[in-house]
Amino acid sequence: MVGMKLRTILLAGLSLTAILSWGQAPASAPDAAKIARGKYLAEEVAKCQDCHTPKTEKGDFIKSQWMKGSTLDFTPAAPMMGWHSKSPDITSTSALWPRWNVDGMVKFLETGKNPRGNKAGPPMPTYTLNHDDADAIVAYLKSLP
Ligand code: HEC
Repeated sequence: MVGMKLRTILLAGLSLTAILSWGQAPASAPDAAKIARGKYLAEEVAKCQDCHTPKTEKGDFIKSQWMKGSTLDFTPAAPMMGWHSKSPDITSTSALWPRWNVDGMVKFLETGKNPRGNKAGPPMPTYTLNHDDADAIVAYLKSLP
């Protein structure tokens, strides 16, 4: 009898664990791989942080403000039409997401054009990435706090 009870408790415990871990929905393996690839492309190849992360006076990145938008620490050699001295927040807290959605952001990195059909002002580069690269970068940006 005691054995029976113990088994019931164990089984109940197991299914509870299953429910709990299912509820947490950890990033699935393909998502984690996509985000890691996006991080590599954004940070090592395109270097988005050079313009989108604020720096200390010594020029070190302020890690807690990673990709949160910044005042650029450089200006064009000659005055340039439409030059932007500030870059926007491009993390998950960016005001762009509700307006652009994930699709709009992916298309922006694929075509260089925002949902209104305009290019961003200089010095924001005009990217024409392939779909998988754009999609990975967007997944990475969305994963940033
Ligand atoms: C050389 C500096 C620089 C780099 C590198 C850079 N950006 Fe920007 N970015 C800017 C500036 C400046 C703006 C503001 C331009 C504007 O509002 O038109 C901007 C604007 C944007 C916008 C908003 C565009 C709009 O039309 O409102 C997005 C989204 C963006 N950047 C994403 C990225 C991503 C993703 C990367 C890396 C893959 C990146 N940027 C790399 C400087 C840069």
